Amino acid sequence: MKVGILGFGNVAAATIEAFTTNQDLIRSKTETPIEFVRVATRTPSRAQGRVPGGCVVSDDCWAVVDDPQIDVVLELMGNVKLGRELVLRALSNSKHVITANKALLAQHGEEIMQMADQAGCSVLFEGAVAVSIPIIKTLRESAAANRISSIIGILNGTSNYVLSQMSEHGVDFATAVADAQRKGYAEADPTLDVNGEDAAHKLTLLASLAFDVPINFSAVEFKGIAEIDQVDIEFAKRLAHQVKLIAQARLESGGIAISVQPTLVPDRSMLARVGGSMNGISLQGDLLGPAFLYGSGAGGRQTSSAVLADLLELANRGGPNGAGGGHNMGFRPRGTGQTEVRYCNDRVGAFYIRLRLDDKAGALAKVSTVLADANVSINSLLQDQGLDGLSDLIVITHDISSGQLRDMLPYLQQAAGPGHTVVIYPVLGDCGC
Ligand code: HSE
Repeated sequence: MKVGILGFGNVAAATIEAFTTNQDLIRSKTETPIEFVRVATRTPSRAQGRVPGGCVVSDDCWAVVDDPQIDVVLELMGNVKLGRELVLRALSNSKHVITANKALLAQHGEEIMQMADQAGCSVLFEGAVAVSIPIIKTLRESAAANRISSIIGILNGTSNYVLSQMSEHGVDFATAVADAQRKGYAEADPTLDVNGEDAAHKLTLLASLAFDVPINFSAVEFKGIAEIDQVDIEFAKRLAHQVKLIAQARLESGGIAISVQPTLVPDRSMLARVGGSMNGISLQGDLLGPAFLYGSGAGGRQTSSAVLADLLELANRGGPNGAGGGHNMGFRPRGTGQTEVRYCNDRVGAFYIRLRLDDKAGALAKVSTVLADANVSINSLLQDQGLDGLSDLIVITHDISSGQLRDMLPYLQQAAGPGHTVVIYPVLGDCGC
């Protein structure tokens, strides 16, 4: 099986290095010889001396996807526009594709998977989501006979690292982001990490596999962590919760609710214990019940593990060039018989509400009247000592609908007073883990 690589960044370099270091083991797992024959990168000098003998290095990407001897293309560039063109061309030339590019698949996955199905080729992407966690194979294979009811995860290591640093060490947001960049967790553009978009890309792919629905990035509502106030992290802790960036897709009565947003996670949940740059995913299926997967979410070496597993999967698929592995997102071609899908933004659940109030008689009464009028029951209540005549009142509600929350919001703002803060986060309910 002859392999070409697009890009020679950390992941590509780590993949070649891991392949070389573990070559005896890898060879023992397949009867198909695997050979790296071409690398294309903008700066070929980076790859010189770091690729196996006989592997041609150039700056010509098209030479990789058009090379008739190549069976498999590893797309490890991370670029969406050029990545799309190259992947489509590789597939039209009957080459399998392995990619870690979640933005590419989230935005153009349907087109790519349809082209792959037509060409009878595979697109494998274990390295695109939560690299050390084999979640793609879990959903595509191990849990394939389940009706999945929810998939809830911490899918972005950078934002989890930032929130952990803020919570455990009181570090400010900008310092923690710079630290995550230095440690190599962040995307080239860390905005995608902290604004929730990277997690939304990953969730798009997981939701498609879990619920057998088209890959539809535009259906995902996402919000990031940049506006989280240290004050809310501290109040959450006092109420036995952690603030986490939670990506979740779940079956609700109205359809599939799919979002990425800062969420209070109860300390008793395993997701609350996912610290630093780690990722965690909780899955509920009708047969397997609750399951929890934990591992690194970033890193060249960790991604190489997923990429090489995909390569071995292709090598062991029977046909001389890795053909015959079924369809890429499940067991039938895209566009046939997928679940009728409705996305709904409404959810029922508990909410954390913080209001900054004038610290004077009757302030709490006004808020409790608003809650009572909206038929919202209080689960926990906390008020701080107050400073400069202002005081924070924190309420965790019992389960309410998003509609109830929306209707009540203007009245809460009124009760808090003009210009006073009202902060609202969802609280994660029982997810079995
Ligand atoms: N930048 C990503 C993260 C890693 O921080 O999780 C690659 O997906």
